[in-house]
Amino acid sequence: MAAGQGTRMKSAVPKVLHELGGRSLVGHAVAAARALEPEHLVVVVGTGRDVVEAHLAEIDSDVRTAVQEQQLGTGDAVRCGLSALPEVDGAVIVTSGDVPLLETQTLLDLVTAHDDEHNAVTVLTARVPEPAGYGRIIRAADGTVDAIVEHKDATDDQRLIDEINAGIYVFDAATLRDGLQRITTDNAQGELYLTDVLSIARKDGKRVGVHITTDAMQTEGVNDRVQLATLRAELNRRTLDALMRSGVTIVDPRTTWVDRNVTIEPDATLLPNTQLHGATTVGSGATIGPDTTLTDVRVGAGATVIRTHGSESVIGENAKVGPFAYLRPGTALGTAGKIGTFVETKNAGIGDGAKVPHLTYAGDVTIGEGANVGAGTIVANYDGVTKSHTTIGKHSFIGSDSVLVAPVEIADGSYVAAGSTIVSDTQPGDLAVARGKQRNVAGWVARRRAGTKTAAAAEAAASEQPADPGDTGSSTGSEEARQ
Ligand code: UD1
Ligand code: CA
Repeated sequence: MAAGQGTRMKSAVPKVLHELGGRSLVGHAVAAARALEPEHLVVVVGTGRDVVEAHLAEIDSDVRTAVQEQQLGTGDAVRCGLSALPEVDGAVIVTSGDVPLLETQTLLDLVTAHDDEHNAVTVLTARVPEPAGYGRIIRAADGTVDAIVEHKDATDDQRLIDEINAGIYVFDAATLRDGLQRITTDNAQGELYLTDVLSIARKDGKRVGVHITTDAMQTEGVNDRVQLATLRAELNRRTLDALMRSGVTIVDPRTTWVDRNVTIEPDATLLPNTQLHGATTVGSGATIGPDTTLTDVRVGAGATVIRTHGSESVIGENAKVGPFAYLRPGTALGTAGKIGTFVETKNAGIGDGAKVPHLTYAGDVTIGEGANVGAGTIVANYDGVTKSHTTIGKHSFIGSDSVLVAPVEIADGSYVAAGSTIVSDTQPGDLAVARGKQRNVAGWVARRRAGTKTAAAAEAAASEQPADPGDTGSSTGSEEARQ
């Protein structure tokens, strides 16, 4: 059920699309249900149905949707859901789209209790310190359920009951269909209550059972952004606990955030302020952080990634990244490669052992294995209209402060002199030099900067050293440099 308004979120976005742990609220509900391998999985949509349906198609293409035009109550929602299916028999499991911590194991336990006790309906319940707002479980003497009474319909005595309806059920399909035809809106909210199916079944002499969970957080729903933050923190705590128990070192769980779909191998280490999102994977022995955010990044075993922001990228085994690196989509760093300090990469294949250590932009480029890209190199991939590709060959060496103007190909085993602006291809073994020739204007400081500390330093240095007879650097004579 995911058709409700979610008014208290105060949001233009439907409630069930708000995120925690890298999934939408409804995404958590669908994932928990999907893991049961049901014959059919239907989501009842209403509020914001177009965006919700589009989102569902993206996260689980086998999900069906049923549209509930008006939110007439949970009983009506389930009616809609059933109407989207061929006539089913067996067990129908109903969950809510706004209960994100519910685990598949809890659903399995609920189904097991339902089967073992031969129930017509089994409801998941929990005892909570503050039951206000929830439906209360009215138990019969034998422990089965007589009825569920909504808070608004409950007497003062019933409101003292601390066992609440989690809104998660297993129904025998025929019992459910029959009950849904008989429920009415004769209640405080004028809604069609799904919960009334339980008392109807009971009155028909059917068995209505309970599965009580001691993990009440799994049954908590999100109605506003305060609850969303509380459950987000709790989900993260659970994710980190499971990772630590599986052998991952997390130095500061308070500042570490890991999404549900992230996988991390044992003996990886997460340093403070690390956020791992999406489908990020981290190999054994890798160290991430501090201050690193990775989204959909594959980090190889033994790699280190320090103070880095990266997305949709691959970092090879034993590679080194950062500090202060920005890996944009399409970056693939080879084994033992390096993307160093103040380096931005985009659509960049960097070969095994290749190094881009300092102050570089590398966009739309293939860098061969073992190549070395000097400090301050810029791959100029964009001419203002189109983006073009640059190739830097294997074991080639790009001198510092060079600009490689795309499209251009630096051949395997060639050199580019520091400070060059390269616009044409090189051949293997070449040294490409593309810069002004240096000339030294002798005596310029004494003539044009007389009286400065620089001039004094020049004079002192000159008096300490005998003049070098082989010095030809002053061949420009008295001519003065203007630039
Ligand atoms: C419901 C239960 C209550 C239980 C609580 C647990 C009923 C009558 N009451 O109350 O016993 O303790 O859940 O959280 O079922 N929805 C629809 N269409 C509708 C109405 C609701 O799809 O017409 C969906 C909502 O989007 C939500 C779920 O059903 O995902 C629960 O609805 P909500 O209005 O939150 O029910 P509660 O009043 O909290
Ligand atoms: Ca609710």
